[in-house]
Amino acid sequence: MVEFSLPANARPQRGKHYPAESSARRIKRFEIYRWDPEQDSNPCIDSYEIDLDDCGPMVLDAILKIKNQIDSSLSFRRSCREGVCGSCAMNVNGSNTLVCTKAISDYSGTIKIFPLPHLPVIKDLVADMQHFFAQYASIQPWLISSQPAPQDRERLQSPQQRAVLDGLYECVLCACCSTSCPSYWWNGERYLGPAVLLQAYRWLADSRDDADEQRLAQLDDAFKLYRCHTIMNCTDTCPKGLNPAKAIAEIKKRLVQDPSR
Ligand code: SF4
Ligand code: SF4
Ligand code: FES
Repeated sequence: MVEFSLPANARPQRGKHYPAESSARRIKRFEIYRWDPEQDSNPCIDSYEIDLDDCGPMVLDAILKIKNQIDSSLSFRRSCREGVCGSCAMNVNGSNTLVCTKAISDYSGTIKIFPLPHLPVIKDLVADMQHFFAQYASIQPWLISSQPAPQDRERLQSPQQRAVLDGLYECVLCACCSTSCPSYWWNGERYLGPAVLLQAYRWLADSRDDADEQRLAQLDDAFKLYRCHTIMNCTDTCPKGLNPAKAIAEIKKRLVQDPSR
């Protein structure tokens, strides 16, 4: 498991404490990063006690309970609560994860929830994903083909061609991997990071796409691709069980094998 800790002088101050009701029997404590740039000069950590007998099983259930019943000012993203939209990515007890697929019972003791690391914070648990999605758009994440689309059917693939996309198409662009990657922390302006590179390989691997040369030429860059040093945090962290480090290695292999280079 990949874990991060803040330097002591960067730790936010203690904030408000919301104790459990006196009738609560199974109390769990959540410490949550709070920062509102319109009101606060510094971030702080608010703590909330909730009764697990009156809460759903997932970490997202606890966050929703806090928002709905204790402190409506708490901001976070979520949509599907099924692990498919990728919007509820946060750092929980030092590891990036999708909180809708993470059970409260997976953690003993206090659960500490922070926004994804090394991204600007818009408010509380809402990280600014603008740069991440601009990088995603830069790899042209759509089918490019010189062949006209058939009029009467989809562009077909054999089962074997389709199977090549397994382990790639499942990516929900949550950014858990990119924001756990030390190379992305330090060079994120120019390094594309594991999520975007996995997506880039998804299109290189697609039998219906014939823009390999153009795609590889765009990726063949000391910063965009070669800042990956195979540290593997990305693969350890991915809540969908994918392997972005392997996809990055496959891109590098294609570049070595490309006869036009
Ligand atoms: S393997 Fe590459 S992309 Fe993954 S964490 Fe390490 S440096 Fe980052
Ligand atoms: S590879 Fe995994 S961790 Fe990275 S963006 Fe895709 S789903 Fe999220
Ligand atoms: S709410 Fe959609 S992935 Fe968690």
